[in-house]
Amino acid sequence: MASAGFLLLTLAVLNSIGSSQGYAFVEIHCKTQNIGQYEQESRLDCVIHYSERDVVDVEDPEIMVVIWRKEGVEEPVLKYNHGKLTSLPGYSFAEPSWNNKNVNVSLLIHKTAVKDEGVYTCYVFTNSGFNKNQTRLSVTAKYGVPTIQPQPQDIDLNTDGSLTCKSTGYPKGRLSWFDKDDNALLEQPEVEVLKTENGLFLLSSTLKIQGGSAFSQYTCKVFNARGDEEVEKSFNSAGSSQSEAFVKIHCKTQNIGQYEQESRLDCVIHYLEEVEDPEILVVIWSREGVEEPILKYENGKLTSLPGYLFAEPSWNNKNVNVSLLIHKTAVKDEGVYTCYVFTDSGYNINHTRLNVTGEL
Ligand SMILES: *[C@@H]1O[C@H](CO)[C@@H](O)[C@H](O)[C@H]1NC(C)=O
Ligand SMILES: *[C@@H]1O[C@H](CO)[C@@H](O)[C@H](O)[C@H]1NC(C)=O
Ligand SMILES: *[C@@H]1O[C@H](CO)[C@@H](O)[C@H](O)[C@H]1NC(C)=O
Ligand SMILES: *[C@@H]1O[C@H](CO)[C@@H](O)[C@H](O)[C@H]1NC(C)=O
Ligand SMILES: *[C@@H]1O[C@H](CO)[C@@H](O)[C@H](O)[C@H]1NC(C)=O
Repeated sequence: MASAGFLLLTLAVLNSIGSSQGYAFVEIHCKTQNIGQYEQESRLDCVIHYSERDVVDVEDPEIMVVIWRKEGVEEPVLKYNHGKLTSLPGYSFAEPSWNNKNVNVSLLIHKTAVKDEGVYTCYVFTNSGFNKNQTRLSVTAKYGVPTIQPQPQDIDLNTDGSLTCKSTGYPKGRLSWFDKDDNALLEQPEVEVLKTENGLFLLSSTLKIQGGSAFSQYTCKVFNARGDEEVEKSFNSAGSSQSEAFVKIHCKTQNIGQYEQESRLDCVIHYLEEVEDPEILVVIWSREGVEEPILKYENGKLTSLPGYLFAEPSWNNKNVNVSLLIHKTAVKDEGVYTCYVFTDSGYNINHTRLNVTGEL
């Protein structure tokens, strides 16, 4: 209460003397537009200028009060009052060791959030006059590389399905779909816009694909609020001749397993150079003569028959080593295995053989 009372008094004083000469001695020059990067530091630049007359009249100007307020926030975000500095968490003077002779009263926002966007007012009260000025902070967050989620996961040119492209950033941008020749599709799906809890915009666009008529490659591009392309992601639908060219699975053709020991069937995914940030959507390991897949990763979910696992202990969908581990090799494990891999950049299939040796 006490500080609020003081503030009202200060503002009342600032306003009541507003018309008198007090204003003439002190000016606050603020950069009118400041751009802050999401989660980075932002600076609102304001510097005090004393008028020439003032330099004659008052030899040693001294700052008594500085108040930084943000439109819509009740408390000042920063307040210096006769030697005492208080601020809301995450705000400080930009000058690391600011003192009351320092004309640079710029405000530093430590970790910029979307809610920091808006108009700020800086009030300065010195022993030779006072003034206030305003400045604005705009916040931007670069859009992330979009994700493309196909539905169904193993979408190909013969089935109907859809691709959903998503990306998050700020301020509001847009998504557009392009074909393999980099032409914008004539019919662009509607872009859904959601706000995340951090105030960022989550853009989402679902492209319907009709079997047979589909192009082999789709690119989702993200344009920022200024209309500039920021990031993009391509998807190669399975079944097109091109999609197989982007992904290869190199398998050791012959694997020898010791009876009752662990066996590994080594297969590693190789992407073509132009594939950017690929993501594995589906991995299926199957065996001649066994109906169910012996291991299946789909939609982030891993299932397998007992005794089979990925060889990589903490495999994830960026890991190109999709080798299969058989915990305790049995004679019946001998045979040909098939590994299917679907990624968001294409798919492929390869085979490998396990021979079992040892004292039976
Ligand atoms: C406010 O800042 C602008 C931009 O620096 C400046 O032109 C203007 O004179 C300032 N106003 C006051 C009252 O200090
Ligand atoms: C104010 O101080 C900050 C921090 O030292 C500095 O980066 C900025 O350039 C200064 N502003 C002016 C206008 O001198
Ligand atoms: C299958 O694996 C072999 C051996 O690593 C490799 O030469 C071949 O290119 C692979 N085929 C495909 C379609 O990835
Ligand atoms: C795949 O991962 C397994 C387990 O970490 C490892 O032993 C094997 O050497 C890896 N294969 C390749 C080709 O990197
Ligand atoms: C594995 O078994 C197959 C079929 O019996 C055989 O043709 C092949 O030579 C064997 N490979 C090795 C390395 O023993």
